[in-house]
Amino acid sequence: MGDLVQLSIVDGVGVITVQNPPVNALSPGVPEGILEGVESFVADAGVNAIVLIGGGRTFIAGADIKEFGKITSGQKRRGPGLISVIDALENAAKPTVAAIHGFAFGGGLEAAQGCHYRVALRSARVGQPEVKLGIIPGAHGTQRLPRLAGVRKALEMCSLGSPIFADEAHRFGIVDRVIEGDGYEELLAGAVAFAAERASSGEPHPKASESDAKLGTPEEAAPLCDAARALVRKKRRGQMAPLKAIDAVEAAVSLPFSEGIKREAEIFRECLFSTQSKALIHAFFSERAARKIPDVPKDHPSRQVQSAAVIGAGTMGGGIAMSYVNAGIPVRLAEVSREALDRGVATIRKNYERSVRGGRFTAEFVEQRMAMITPQLDWEGFGEADIIVEAVFENMALKKEIFGRIDGVARPGAVLATNTSTLSVDEIASATSRPEDVIGHHFFSPANVMRLLEIVRGAKTGREVVATSMALARRLRKVGVLVGNCLGFVGNRMFHPYRREAQFLAEEGAKPATVDRVLYDFGAAMGPMAVGDLAGLDVGMRVRKESPQMYPPGTRRPVAEDALCELGRYGQKTGAGWYRYGADRSRHEDPEVDALLRRIAAENGIEQREIPEDEILDRVVYALVNEGARILEEGFALRSSDIDVIYLYGYGFPPQRGGPMFYADTVGLEKVLERVEEFHQRHGHWWRPAPLLRELAQAGSSFGEWDRSC
Ligand code: 3HC
Ligand code: NAI
Repeated sequence: MGDLVQLSIVDGVGVITVQNPPVNALSPGVPEGILEGVESFVADAGVNAIVLIGGGRTFIAGADIKEFGKITSGQKRRGPGLISVIDALENAAKPTVAAIHGFAFGGGLEAAQGCHYRVALRSARVGQPEVKLGIIPGAHGTQRLPRLAGVRKALEMCSLGSPIFADEAHRFGIVDRVIEGDGYEELLAGAVAFAAERASSGEPHPKASESDAKLGTPEEAAPLCDAARALVRKKRRGQMAPLKAIDAVEAAVSLPFSEGIKREAEIFRECLFSTQSKALIHAFFSERAARKIPDVPKDHPSRQVQSAAVIGAGTMGGGIAMSYVNAGIPVRLAEVSREALDRGVATIRKNYERSVRGGRFTAEFVEQRMAMITPQLDWEGFGEADIIVEAVFENMALKKEIFGRIDGVARPGAVLATNTSTLSVDEIASATSRPEDVIGHHFFSPANVMRLLEIVRGAKTGREVVATSMALARRLRKVGVLVGNCLGFVGNRMFHPYRREAQFLAEEGAKPATVDRVLYDFGAAMGPMAVGDLAGLDVGMRVRKESPQMYPPGTRRPVAEDALCELGRYGQKTGAGWYRYGADRSRHEDPEVDALLRRIAAENGIEQREIPEDEILDRVVYALVNEGARILEEGFALRSSDIDVIYLYGYGFPPQRGGPMFYADTVGLEKVLERVEEFHQRHGHWWRPAPLLRELAQAGSSFGEWDRSC
């Protein structure tokens, strides 16, 4: 059994404690250990009941996700492990009780469902999050949960994967008793008392697999399943597992338990071997890998951040201030004019009030949050702030002036962050006497909602400031990814060629709505034209004007968006861009745009043609991949998986594709290179294959292997 599972006896109750930090995943050895524990306690006449509990901060967070790759690559035979444990817990001749704190997720909740009873601390959460990994519960969760909680709740939990707290679980019959207190000791004492009580009751102990009362009939389940399908088609568009999870729960109603579990096993396997599951598991580990910085280990000293100051209360400054306040960090928020300040504060209030209307916050809660913001026209108190975040207009002279002033007021040891989206962090830092304290914190709009935070390390940024920023990102509930200081950093540097190709395609005859639809069908939240209209086409036009070096002489320059801007078509904000917008923001194709594109093509000698949809997809997605490969070889991203995380959390890349670099790996780099070379021949300069892409493709390797070799 090793050290993974420990046994003890407390007041005649056998306690099986899982000790597999950090989250007590069911790694090899854990199921076997639990099984041995159950068998020995059942055989022990001095034991009246059995409690299953997790050591440390949690119950069991599920199967060991690392094992799935071994199963799908044929390295490991999937043994009966967890299922035998569950059967043993349910069939034990003595009452079995799961004692839950932290998380009972996936296989953890399935093990708990095998127990006759479940008790939990109020702070505990239970869930079947498997769909987030592209699979379904595989240890009878889709069959026992509807029997415990009813079909509606089981559908919701298994198809969306969101966890619920103990109180809600209690209401739905998943948890039998909520234990007061918030520590492991109180949980253990409560669970032992509960187990002893059940043992002495003389009553039969319920088996979830045999409790059919809450299942109802297939006719009753059908509309619930239809509604669940409609919801996941919208909320998890393009994902297979949520629909499969619904099929499995539906089978619980239409088939006896012994048949339902067979159906679940078939579906589980189908999902586990899917590319979607590999992509979602890649996304899970990539998010966690992004926290690892080779020269800044986890225990590297970092600075305390208890207070913040934000300069600029515009689109970004306001959202950034909200992110801090939401994490419990008070903010001083400075503007240049009363009007801008009032507007900024009013927008923040409006955003919070929307959450009140949505039922997420109370009005009182809003006032508490607003009270944590000190709006001001001067920089009073900035000298005490632990971090100062600049979010003024994107203008180097202005940013340098601001950083010069910050240098004069910030206390020694304060972190000085800029939210620039394109300007050099090094040049901004040069305006201070302490470039080691300066770092880019590139939030995405809306900053209070979007999860991505690109953390831009300048040439002189200190390691302590990097460590502080990575830790701060987690506190702000962001996914922080460390990137280097190149033009556009990682996300926008790649986005540029993506949108450029989209424009080229339109100039060559693809309808803007077709380009968008191809990307939407691929799973993107929005196509590139719709995104352009949303962000404002003038933004790109300004960048192209200010940085003519982006398009050296002899290279093809996109002209369509500049032409749209000349017509005053800046996008949604002017009611027209690539599309025409109704008063209700409804989007309509516009024949005027088609005519404009035909004119542009004729004037610029561009041949218009019918463009196949696979070319549309490959041109825009491989433009991302090729630029991503350059970024990697230039060292501006630490790993290809970091690039994937940036695209998943900042740019709406479909999670079931795993990110652009992972997607390229699933296509096969040889094929990707072939296509890039074909585009290079046909379209010239912009499609020169990145040397790293060529190198990996020719070696039969992948971005994933490259990451592992670094
Ligand atoms: N398997 C393997 N490793 C896991 C794991 C799991 N189930 N859950 C977490 N880990 C690892 C993480 O990779 C991370 O490793 P690292 O420190 O080396 O990067 C470490 O544990 C800590 O994880 P987090 O940083 O995510 O810790 P948090 O405290 O922020 O979150 C958590 C804890 C909410 C449990 C979160 O880790 C999580 O959601 N884990 C996944 C839970 C899950 O999906 N369970 C279902 C698995 S599939 C299953 O059970 C199939 C079954 O039906 C048969
Ligand atoms: P914005 O125009 O909405 O807000 C800028 C604010 O800064 C204005 O309210 C202005 O009054 C204020 N300001 C200007 N000078 C100031 C000074 N000296 N002191 C205090 N306030 C001052 O601009 P936005 O969109 O918020 O952009 C801010 C920064 O964030 C820019 O660097 C931009 O590149 C970056 N960014 C913008 C994103 C976006 O989607 N809008 C996304 C990510 C980064």
